[in-house]
Amino acid sequence: MSDLHLLLSRLADQMPSAWRDSFLQVPRHHFIPDTIWVRNADGRPEPLRRDDDPTAWLHACYTDAPIAVQLDDGEASGRGYVSSTASMPTVVAMMLETADLSPGLSVLEIGTGSGYNAALLASVVGAQNVTTVEIDTQLAERATVALQQAGWPVEVVTADGEKGHPPRAPFDRVMATAAVNTIPYAWVEQARSGGVLVVPFGTAFHSGALLRLLVDRGEAVGRFGGDAAFMWTRAQRPAHGSVEERVRAEHEVSEATTSLHPYEPVGDFDASFAIGLCVPGMLSTLVYDHDDPTSERYTVYLMDPNSQSWASWRVEPGRAEYPVRQHGSRRLFAELESAYRWWVMVGRPPHTRFGVTVTPHGQRVWLDDPENTLPPRLGAPQA
Ligand SMILES: C[S@@+](CC[C@H](N)C(=O)[O-])C[C@H]1O[C@@H](n2cnc3c(N)ncnc32)[C@H](O)[C@@H]1O
Repeated sequence: MSDLHLLLSRLADQMPSAWRDSFLQVPRHHFIPDTIWVRNADGRPEPLRRDDDPTAWLHACYTDAPIAVQLDDGEASGRGYVSSTASMPTVVAMMLETADLSPGLSVLEIGTGSGYNAALLASVVGAQNVTTVEIDTQLAERATVALQQAGWPVEVVTADGEKGHPPRAPFDRVMATAAVNTIPYAWVEQARSGGVLVVPFGTAFHSGALLRLLVDRGEAVGRFGGDAAFMWTRAQRPAHGSVEERVRAEHEVSEATTSLHPYEPVGDFDASFAIGLCVPGMLSTLVYDHDDPTSERYTVYLMDPNSQSWASWRVEPGRAEYPVRQHGSRRLFAELESAYRWWVMVGRPPHTRFGVTVTPHGQRVWLDDPENTLPPRLGAPQA
């Protein structure tokens, strides 16, 4: 067996059995550009060029990991933010399974990226039934060519996918491969009754989970499922920025202490998911002393780029109380603490007990029952 066939079948073997054949029929390297981006020892992205190292490039294509295919929306800003990836194959497979596809269903994909997922969709429903929308012109052009050459001539539209694609609506399935916090109503409106939306849903605080919504007469309702950390749609991306840019020595601060350790509120998937749902727009960054991730001394920064509020939460071993400093119109630590205490009080529900309802009037997030809407009454801030 050639190296390529070995790599391809090894990757396919990691997929759910119903999807193995599709992953064999759609070789991933047909969709990956000749230059991809990998992290160097400092965590900065650096190019890996197929011409320079064809073996490393091919192995990257067949590793179960996301591949960065674009930085900084294709501009030479030098910040190095990944703006498009070919998603991790096992996550792609989980999303495809969640979509419950069968031949002949019409599918709208938001976020063409490399075109790989569009080809996998086409392998089941037929290329003529797939429409994929990409906001970035260069990526859309590249994916169109890759899809044609690989034999999956789906319709690639260069546009803002948050608006859906009305000319080919209604769709049986709408699959977003970029995360949102607010589900565009266009996706619900352009889905048939009985149709399904598969959407990676993120918050500023938490990387997110996959949402499966069932559409019925202009409304969509459903619960969260698997772990799905995706890059944001361009319009919903939280502002970029470093701690140094946001936390300034000249800022006025209020100081307090807390006995709450960040271990669960920041480190636990379900706790931070619930906090992210309850506390809008709050980013977090953990900075270890001396950049050493084994250090037990670190500071958690909570930041809201809109109001420019921030809080720092300093952890050192052997302490019963941790110093908290807060700046700005929002008391971000107090908001986090209230949300966390609520989550504990209601029995530490896993993220799968939360769900979302989308109507023409907006979106509601709920716990257990669509009538039990968030954010809950959180009580007075403690710090
Ligand atoms: C994780 S990548 C998608 C991966 C892709 N499905 C694949 O198989 O390679 C997310 C993509 O969404 C695109 N995107 C971001 N905002 C968008 C929007 N509003 N409409 C359409 N595409 C968008 C990005 O440019 C990026 O290519």
